[in-house]
Amino acid sequence: PRLVVLLSGRGSNFKAIHEAVGAGRLDARIAGVVSDRAQAAGLALAEAAGIDTACLERSRFASREEFEDSLTTTIAGFAPDYIVLAGFMRVLGTPFVERHLGRMINIHPSLLPRHRGLRTHQRVLDAGEREHGASVHFVTPTLDAGPVLSRVTIEVGADDTAETLADRLLPLEHELYPATLALLLNHRVELRNECIHIDDKPL
Ligand code: GRF
Repeated sequence: PRLVVLLSGRGSNFKAIHEAVGAGRLDARIAGVVSDRAQAAGLALAEAAGIDTACLERSRFASREEFEDSLTTTIAGFAPDYIVLAGFMRVLGTPFVERHLGRMINIHPSLLPRHRGLRTHQRVLDAGEREHGASVHFVTPTLDAGPVLSRVTIEVGADDTAETLADRLLPLEHELYPATLALLLNHRVELRNECIHIDDKPL
């Protein structure tokens, strides 16, 4: 199976997926990495790894529709089976999402459905919550609201800050994302009628 990874920044989740492929833990090929930011460290990482890359900056397009049409064409050029959002910081429009429904997943640093959107670590602290985590989910038109495929949980300690939470969570994201992709690529899990099916049965 072929993957296209979309990212905007650091690219540590991309790197974890790439390493899982290299180590034989994920039977897939990263066909391309696409960024919406030319300066994204993840783009440089991909280039250094010899992976095909593309960069589409939103500011070069007159409208979101034109940007997303170009993104669709770019992605299609890599002929992926799945699109993997890994720190892609742009909200995608409904036509784009529906075109790729069931074929696009994202990792989000919260225990979804809690804390959709940004600044999740601080919001967990502000809410006085005792547990935090990350979730991998199918992307559907409503931001961070698609069916959850997998989660990892950490306890929130009295001394935790947004930074320590992020630092403790990230290595767990790096395990969760490739492991979840492996489930998908084995066709054990799929999205049908907005519900997750496992081994052909609705969850
Ligand atoms: C991660 O925290 C991920 O959960 C969120 O964006 C961050 C991306 O980090 N969606 P990286 O670019 O993969 O290092």
